[in-house]
Amino acid sequence: MTHHEAPGPQEPRPAPAPAPAPAPESGFAPPPAAPAPGPAPAPAPAPAPSPAAPAAPAATPTAPAGDDASAALRTRLAAVRAEVGKAVVGQDSAVTSLLIALLCQGHVLVEGVPGVAKTLLVRSLAASLDLGTKRVQFTPDLMPGDVTGSLVYDARTAEFSFREGPVFTHLLLADEINRTPPKTQASLLEAMEERQVTVDGTPRPLPSPFTVIATQNPVEYEGTYPLPEAQLDRFLLKIVLPLPEREQEVEVLARHAAGFDPRDLARAGVRAVADADVLAQARAQVAQVQVAREVLGYVVDVCAATRRSPSLSLGVSPRGATALLATARAWAWLSGRTFVTPDDVKALALPTLRHRVQLRPEAELEGVTAGSVLETVLAAVPVPR
Ligand SMILES: Nc1ncnc2c1ncn2[C@@H]1O[C@H](COP(=O)(O)OP(=O)(O)OP(=O)(O)O)[C@@H](O)[C@H]1O
Ligand SMILES: [Mg+2]
Repeated sequence: MTHHEAPGPQEPRPAPAPAPAPAPESGFAPPPAAPAPGPAPAPAPAPAPSPAAPAAPAATPTAPAGDDASAALRTRLAAVRAEVGKAVVGQDSAVTSLLIALLCQGHVLVEGVPGVAKTLLVRSLAASLDLGTKRVQFTPDLMPGDVTGSLVYDARTAEFSFREGPVFTHLLLADEINRTPPKTQASLLEAMEERQVTVDGTPRPLPSPFTVIATQNPVEYEGTYPLPEAQLDRFLLKIVLPLPEREQEVEVLARHAAGFDPRDLARAGVRAVADADVLAQARAQVAQVQVAREVLGYVVDVCAATRRSPSLSLGVSPRGATALLATARAWAWLSGRTFVTPDDVKALALPTLRHRVQLRPEAELEGVTAGSVLETVLAAVPVPR
């Protein structure tokens, strides 16, 4: 309720001082733990006070046009978040990330140990949107054709005709994607990349928008087929669901005690509150968000720094850099701003880049993770001001 007021009245005012704070004005939880300014070397970072400054001077006057429209659209997306919240306790930053992916028309990989509500999260997101959705449970015996579709023989007409697989939808929930063998994974990854399916030489375009939200258990789990590293960048974002805090877990139990049935989202009151049209309009607003050249330079510097990291055998590619620009821009809009700040870039760096780098085996043995490398990189790369 409070966020009606937040973005609106603040922007038009030329006041330079009360600059739109880093983020949560709009009510959206920031994406996965924006790699904190550093676990230990916190005292130094001067970037904090200045985030709004760099792009602001030139960008502020551009605000008025889309402002009301933007605020209304954000309200609709906040409603989606609220619907998801009727089923899922917490996991707010994951919901934000999913919304960002929808705004960017990108696919998402959701990882977490069993039982942290990965499936429930994506099912409730789907139920909150008036979009075509299908869900595929990936199993060891699933065949490529079960995903993409296949030619079937019709005895009456004595002809083969194409029967569309579940990828022919707007929002595909690919559950436990790493429980299926590589060949079937490949058929999905291909459809994700090309946004079409080719069977028997005939390309068939997928509906638009088309977004895949895939869930998986961490790779070290038994009986899983790790996704091919080289193709992980088909996913715009990789989000990792944490275990809930104690209070959140108590709330989960309280809901169960009160009769919550995760299989019956309608009974939990989850309704569709936004549709493809809302998303398309929001995307158009995101496209208006300005990015100063210094911020573009910052995105490039961060990505280039990963290529020099001694812990990595593979750094972020230019494609990864464009992904970071896109997600940071969507986040800037979602937080009620008309320009991207370096803080937006930082906030999205982890979920956008963590699956686009490869650790050296030595580093992995020492306990280094993609996340810790990215934190180090973000702490080292100079922030434009
Ligand atoms: N944050 C949460 N909010 C609400 N319910 C939760 C939460 N975490 C766990 N649960 C409960 O645990 C159940 C298990 O969730 P779900 O099946 O979505 O887990 P999962 O992460 O998909 O597990 P798996 O990896 O085994 O598929 C949910 O149906 C719900 O009842
Ligand atoms: Mg599941």
